[in-house]
Amino acid sequence: MADHDKMPVDELTGIETTGHEWDGITELDNPLPRWWLWIFYASIVWSIIYMIFMPAWPALPGFDGHTRGLRNHSERANVAVAMSELEARRGPMFAELQRVVDEQGVRAVLDDGDLLNFTLAAGRSAFGDNCATCHGAGGGGFIGYPNLRDDDWIWGGSYDAIRQTIAGGIRWDAHPETRFSQMPAFGRDELLTRDEISAVTDYVMTLSSLTVSADADLVLGASVFETQCATCHMADGRGDITQGAPNLTNNIWLYGGSREQIQASIYRGPYGAMPSWENRLPEPVITALAAYVYLLGGGETLAQASGPETGEAG
Ligand code: HEC
Ligand code: HEC
Repeated sequence: MADHDKMPVDELTGIETTGHEWDGITELDNPLPRWWLWIFYASIVWSIIYMIFMPAWPALPGFDGHTRGLRNHSERANVAVAMSELEARRGPMFAELQRVVDEQGVRAVLDDGDLLNFTLAAGRSAFGDNCATCHGAGGGGFIGYPNLRDDDWIWGGSYDAIRQTIAGGIRWDAHPETRFSQMPAFGRDELLTRDEISAVTDYVMTLSSLTVSADADLVLGASVFETQCATCHMADGRGDITQGAPNLTNNIWLYGGSREQIQASIYRGPYGAMPSWENRLPEPVITALAAYVYLLGGGETLAQASGPETGEAG
């Protein structure tokens, strides 16, 4: 501030001016309002008290990034405490799930009400966080992303098969034990002629009892199928879970069941991929997910599934 003693006084009001002048207009040097000053002083006092008790100054060396304050308050620590309390509560349930599944098989989970509730809740929440973007909220699937609720399994519907699929992923190069197979692109790579592709498309449609046109060449279609397709989809077209080759006889289609869509699958050789989850999710979460998906699938209601073991759930 400039020296007040030398400031001119405004003639009209008798108040000293700041000395600023714009085209003859001068600025009066009024004191700050008292109420304003008190709030100002109070906030200074408050900030000092706050700095003493709460974390305040960032980036001071030796203070782990910031001053701690007398209360040593930390939101991050509070979250960590809440998380570890949650873990402590869920940990034994996850361990119990793992033990029951390992020792008695996944179906035993159905006989233990608390464990079943826990598994379904933990599985549903992990599914919502990690899987629903591709498989749909309830696992209902989309074109290219299989329905996990039905009876039809590309890679196997036993608990162990599902767990392996989730852990290793599908056609996921980064995982050494990923599920892998590759259908040739019969059209794009010119392994078959247009007529042969058209004929085998019609033949595949008849396997699911879909109507084909009267002039379809089913004799050619059957012979192409036998020589080109049966190694993976089997001679009867029922597929092979060890190769991830879908069943072509049940009218359930991963890539769509119109004539055009089936022909497109044969033309391009689909190559569906799923990430491996082994290093992204903790072991017991994968177990809960596999149990959850297993219990979703197979087309069985839980009541039916709790009956005697009937082999694969799918
Ligand atoms: C990025 C998309 C994507 C995400 C995320 C994803 N999946 Fe998949 N999943 C796929 C695709 C695509 C396939 C089919 C691959 C194929 O063509 O064989 C598949 C197949 C599967 C299968 C095999 C189905 C069968 O019929 O054999 C299971 C089981 C499965 N997913 C479970 C899960 C679970 C559990 C999660 C969450 C942890 C998950 N997926 C997350 C894309 C995804
Ligand atoms: C090397 C093994 C292999 C051979 C040979 C093969 N396929 Fe496939 N096929 C597969 C696999 C694996 C898939 C699933 C790919 C995926 O999930 O992305 C598939 C998928 C399909 C689909 C899509 C099914 C759906 O649900 O949408 C059709 C249709 C099909 N194959 C028809 C044929 C026909 C016709 C031939 C012979 C001309 C043939 N395949 C030969 C492995 C094979």
